[in-house]
Amino acid sequence: MRTDVVLCKTAEVPEGAVRHFEIMGYDIAVANVGGAFYGLDAACTYQWANLADGSVDKERMVLICPSCKGAWDLMTGQPVDAPAKFPLTVYEITTAGDDLVLTFTY
Ligand code: FES
Repeated sequence: MRTDVVLCKTAEVPEGAVRHFEIMGYDIAVANVGGAFYGLDAACTYQWANLADGSVDKERMVLICPSCKGAWDLMTGQPVDAPAKFPLTVYEITTAGDDLVLTFTY
């Protein structure tokens, strides 16, 4: 089963930004890299920093934790730089007109 949730307008997550959303009890970080949107769990799996306060390295396509700089692949959620050790859940993010849409899959 799939459920689509409109997060916001695409312009509200500008190029290079990472924004936090709390949807249905989930904390999700959405990043815009070159006009493509990526959604990951916002809670760092190392010491629970808010990854939406982190940054994106668009050369490496990773999301970097604001606390101790662990990093995860934006597309797979897999850890790539220590101390990140465990993967993040990845969410499907699409656009519909100028809406940004997250799809939950059950
Ligand atoms: S709290 Fe995220 S890497 Fe340290």
